[in-house]
Amino acid sequence: MADLEGNSAAKRFHPDTPAARFEHQIRGAGNLDWGMQNRLARILDPGTGRTVMLAFDHGYFQGPTSGLERIDLNIAPLAPYADALMCTRGALRTSIPPATRAGLVLRASGGPSILKELSDEFTAMTMADAVRINADAVAVQVFVGGEHETRSIRNLTTLVDEGYSAGIPVLGVTAVGKELTRDARYLGLATRIIAELGAQLVKTYYCEEGFEDVVAGCPVPVIMAGGKKLPELDALTMASYAVRAGAAGVDMGRNIFQSSHPAAMMTAVRGVVHDDLDPADAYELFRDATETKALA
Ligand code: 5RP
Repeated sequence: MADLEGNSAAKRFHPDTPAARFEHQIRGAGNLDWGMQNRLARILDPGTGRTVMLAFDHGYFQGPTSGLERIDLNIAPLAPYADALMCTRGALRTSIPPATRAGLVLRASGGPSILKELSDEFTAMTMADAVRINADAVAVQVFVGGEHETRSIRNLTTLVDEGYSAGIPVLGVTAVGKELTRDARYLGLATRIIAELGAQLVKTYYCEEGFEDVVAGCPVPVIMAGGKKLPELDALTMASYAVRAGAAGVDMGRNIFQSSHPAAMMTAVRGVVHDDLDPADAYELFRDATETKALA
């Protein structure tokens, strides 16, 4: 019966309902291919648009950093607390269980050790291996103002071009030379250059004055690097200021694995990043988790 059939068909096709449009938590990702957006969503929690990324790629230029003496023992147990892991392919393949559910950001630049000029990097991983290892992004150091600034930009754009082809995003890492000041002017310059040249994510350090302008001036998500080890409450305060200024989360290494209780610190950082806890409340989380561990 045509009318009845017509009505039931209309119910199934919902002709009055427009096609779904997927709102993007992820800044600047709206025109990217589905695969790129899916990989970004494995790094940035779609619920908050932010990430707690655990960084342990330090060994690629400074060897067994304090707290990274045994990645299999020091870091692998922390993976479940992280939205994403930032590491080298060597650390991943040798020391992190393949069943890990965290997003994977693979260090893809390298060259000099701490004994030499750090900006003298080249790309250090092919996109083919990034695909093979199932990376959700690759990371490259960009030395704006550094001695080998132009080569680091070339490393970035090479990986961006290969990344578009493979559907793998690139995280551009602001590497601040010793002679440069980590102020909003410099960080705004470096982050914008990285984004303009095609990176889908940018990582940079926090600055007390004008960080909100650094974030606003960058058309892709800005993730705050933790930097040197601070007292836990100070690190939590810096992370809180950064996300409240618009950062899409944090990428912390030393403030986690050099903490007296790394797992407790991960829990506290998650509270700041994903639940917008005040630093003092997050620090209580850290202390409670520390005491709980002590009683265990
Ligand atoms: C080291 C890096 C690290 O990933 C980044 O600096 C985060 O680590 P930390 O919080 O220890 O600074 O890029 O080359």
